[in-house]
Amino acid sequence: MAVAPEWILPQVWSALMAEGTNAHRLATGREMWVERFGEDVLISYQTERARDSALEELDRRCGDYDFHPQRIFGKYLPQHASERGAPSLLRGADGGPMETEVQEANVKYGLDFAAGYSAGLFIDQRTNRARLAALKPKRFLNTFAYTCSFSVVAARAGAETVSVDLSRRSLTRGEENFQRNGLDPKQGHRFIADDVLGVLPRLARRGDQFDAIVLDPPTFSRNQEGMAFQVQRDFDRLVALALEVAAPGANLLLSVNHSAMRVADLELAARTALRLAGRSGRFIQALPLPDFPPGHGAKTVWVEVR
Ligand SMILES: C[S@@+](CC[C@H](N)C(=O)[O-])C[C@H]1O[C@@H](n2cnc3c(N)ncnc32)[C@H](O)[C@@H]1O
Repeated sequence: MAVAPEWILPQVWSALMAEGTNAHRLATGREMWVERFGEDVLISYQTERARDSALEELDRRCGDYDFHPQRIFGKYLPQHASERGAPSLLRGADGGPMETEVQEANVKYGLDFAAGYSAGLFIDQRTNRARLAALKPKRFLNTFAYTCSFSVVAARAGAETVSVDLSRRSLTRGEENFQRNGLDPKQGHRFIADDVLGVLPRLARRGDQFDAIVLDPPTFSRNQEGMAFQVQRDFDRLVALALEVAAPGANLLLSVNHSAMRVADLELAARTALRLAGRSGRFIQALPLPDFPPGHGAKTVWVEVR
């Protein structure tokens, strides 16, 4: 039986606008989802039928939201990661800049629809970014940092930050996100283009300690030497390495997108690593996102390490 997509309620839309957020989910269905990025919309779809009915429904609902997108992009969701491509323009003026800027809780982020499969901001981490801001860490470590959204939030709250990602290009976009928010990326912030699994032991040897750490790895990747990272296989090791640089009282965010991993798997990995390190921890569940139906978005949990 077909399940009707869930569209964001107008009151949720208004609440997000009121908090200074214009990047969020619009709809979630079985074969598609729709996201708003400022004045643009991105439809991610598994079938053309799902894409076309999302477009029709969007037209019907724009009046409810008083929103009239300038451009609508479409992105095919392939079965295999190797077939992933950048979005294409479905509607709106062609030939304009593919880059745009969005806001979340009044923090600015750059997006680039031509950059590849992901445009630059994972909106399902919104409540986790809000929690990080509220924690006000002094020393923050962002692993798998991508465009450094978590680092920007921590830096705005006064932290010194270290952002680690294999992709120099993503870190450069991260530095640009610092600048968009009036932060100098050269003052108290480091951007390390390297393998997280190699960087963590180096930071530990230097005696570096952090009071907030984000671990948000991809399902699969290969480093510069061709060595594979597989989240199901390597997550335990990742948490163990992160504990070596976690100061007493540190908050760790554990987050994954792998369809076969659950929050319970993250908690189990953390419990095992804590026990082996002779430490203890308290789990704090991530806050729900009002624009995502339950069970959608990244699986995440926070651990306060003792
Ligand atoms: C899921 S994204 C992280 C999203 C990010 N936490 C955010 O919320 O914006 C995964 C990132 O991990 C990076 N990456 C993958 N394998 C890596 C590795 N072994 N070491 C460092 N970075 C890696 C990729 O380049 C990519 O930018």
